[in-house]
Amino acid sequence: MTLSPPQSAVAPATATDTFPINGTDYIEFWVGNARQAGLYYRAAFGFSLVGYRGPETGVRDRASYLLQQGKIRFVLTTAIRPDLSDEARAVADHVYAHGDGVRDLALWVDDARQAFERAVARGAEPVHPPRVQRDADGEVVIAAIRTYGTTIHSLVERRNYRGLFLPGFRPAAPHYQPEDVGLKYVDHCVGNVELGRMDTWVDYYARVMGFRNLLTFDDKDISTEYSSLMSKVMANGNDRIKFPINEPAAGKKKSQIDEYLEFYGGPGVQHMALATDDIIRTVTTLRDRGVEFLSVPTSYYDELQTRVGKIDEPLDVLASLGILVDRDPDGYLLQIFSKPVQDRPTVFYEIIQRKGAKSFGKGNFRALFEAIEREQAARGNL
Ligand code: FE2
Repeated sequence: MTLSPPQSAVAPATATDTFPINGTDYIEFWVGNARQAGLYYRAAFGFSLVGYRGPETGVRDRASYLLQQGKIRFVLTTAIRPDLSDEARAVADHVYAHGDGVRDLALWVDDARQAFERAVARGAEPVHPPRVQRDADGEVVIAAIRTYGTTIHSLVERRNYRGLFLPGFRPAAPHYQPEDVGLKYVDHCVGNVELGRMDTWVDYYARVMGFRNLLTFDDKDISTEYSSLMSKVMANGNDRIKFPINEPAAGKKKSQIDEYLEFYGGPGVQHMALATDDIIRTVTTLRDRGVEFLSVPTSYYDELQTRVGKIDEPLDVLASLGILVDRDPDGYLLQIFSKPVQDRPTVFYEIIQRKGAKSFGKGNFRALFEAIEREQAARGNL
């Protein structure tokens, strides 16, 4: 008798990659006060301030702070003088409409001109054509296409650039540079879209960038009494980019996705999952520095051993931190979700450690969504 190998939890990669992407290049947030948001991400999340662009570097009307931790790059941009240019006005208008949020999930490509041409030929809506930016360290070529809501994907080509980040950014080396918390890379970025629009954006990523549907969750998988949603996870050819797309599903009361859409003023990035090799250390440090996480009832941990089997981490430590665990045919994963990181109940973070598992924690959806509903109810939005 032969044993068939265990089936992976996710759809296998396709043989040909019709839209090569090397990885996430950076995530740009448009915010009301980039200086203060920057200090939050440094002090609480352990990012280093490594670059700056603003009036002192010749940009009169905006300021941008480049933060880094592991391979993760965040850019925080604010408008200083919205009256001086369309670019600054766009930032200010975006903050007025959406609050602090993600403007750009920038993708690192080898050839931005070719990527842009292909994307547009396959139906992508252009934001701007390839632009060359130069300084003494070489040149970067950036084009951009739009995705859901007001979110865009910059396509960044940096093969002829040796500098820090982008032309115009100068290195920063502030006195205050807190220790990192062990965050390594962006695991996935999730978008919330309107009811009935999930498949539009699933088709868009498949058609324009050759992504495949890795996993699908319907409302049977992830509905609680109130907070139903549907989700499809899209992944690029080499699996370095994973974009789950959520839409609300009908429930007894308001879906958490509807709450997001109302407060963000439309579709946008809901959460970014940041990976660590040591979730216990990472979450312990984040909590000590003021990051607030959703908590699950202690009964979650009574059933955990039965559900996931043997794991390396002590259950009592996981329980004291509120870290969730799930298993799939490839291994297991540990994850935890922050509360929203601004006053609007919009953007939040997931901290994830993968120990073989390639999935997204389906076994935790009920406990997690019940925790989200308690927060929604406290805000009067359920
Ligand atoms: Fe996630």
